[in-house]
Amino acid sequence: MTVIEHRVTEQGFSCLGIPPAQGLGALQARLVDRIKRAALRRLHRSVRGERLLLRMYLAGEDATERTLLEELLPQSPPWLEQQVERHLADERRHVALFAQALGELGDDAESRLEPDWLSRRKILRWQRLAHRYAVHFEQGLLVPAYATGLCAEQMAERVLRRHCAVIGTEHEMYPLLARVLADEKAHVRLCENTLRRIVAPHEAAHLARLLNDIRRVDASFGVTGALAMYVAGWVLGGVGGRRR
Ligand SMILES: [Fe+2]
Ligand SMILES: [Fe+2]
Repeated sequence: MTVIEHRVTEQGFSCLGIPPAQGLGALQARLVDRIKRAALRRLHRSVRGERLLLRMYLAGEDATERTLLEELLPQSPPWLEQQVERHLADERRHVALFAQALGELGDDAESRLEPDWLSRRKILRWQRLAHRYAVHFEQGLLVPAYATGLCAEQMAERVLRRHCAVIGTEHEMYPLLARVLADEKAHVRLCENTLRRIVAPHEAAHLARLLNDIRRVDASFGVTGALAMYVAGWVLGGVGGRRR
């Protein structure tokens, strides 16, 4: 790679990192974060609330496992297969860890939660974006699949980081969440590195637009999702301060 190509590539790939929110977007992000922190504190007041949190994580991990198995693995070139297999093994371990934690709270986790209505709508809009953008890349749908994967892993990192901060290191759920958080951070790096390899320098502008659209869809569900979580916390956590 020439020096000029390298410079173009590095500039093009600055879009992989989460852009700092500005103006109204920043205000909305702070609002969502505050509502979700309050919802988490409330949900931790009851066993039913904690079960709901674990079930939400289990549904997310389950959906990630299925996406890797059904969408990413079949279209991966041979050189990517081992990496996808290792990623899949991590997500399967997360499913097992959350199912075990649910079992310890008296929930058999047999009837799996499907992603909720809001998450399904979000996934549908991401799939439409993937098909619209695939034509712009030599590697076709593989690029939107990894771009969506990157944003989903960044979201998982943000959610788990917030949850760990809210409950603190002494909480009995902390070791589980911290362990999964470490894996999700590694998955963010893995998606970033893969995108750097599968996107040609002249396609970088399309990748930037695609990531922007994926993040916009995610943000458009932010306030609604946070309020839904807060209502659940209010219903399940009750008004008392003790865990029941
Ligand atoms: Fe995971
Ligand atoms: Fe992950």
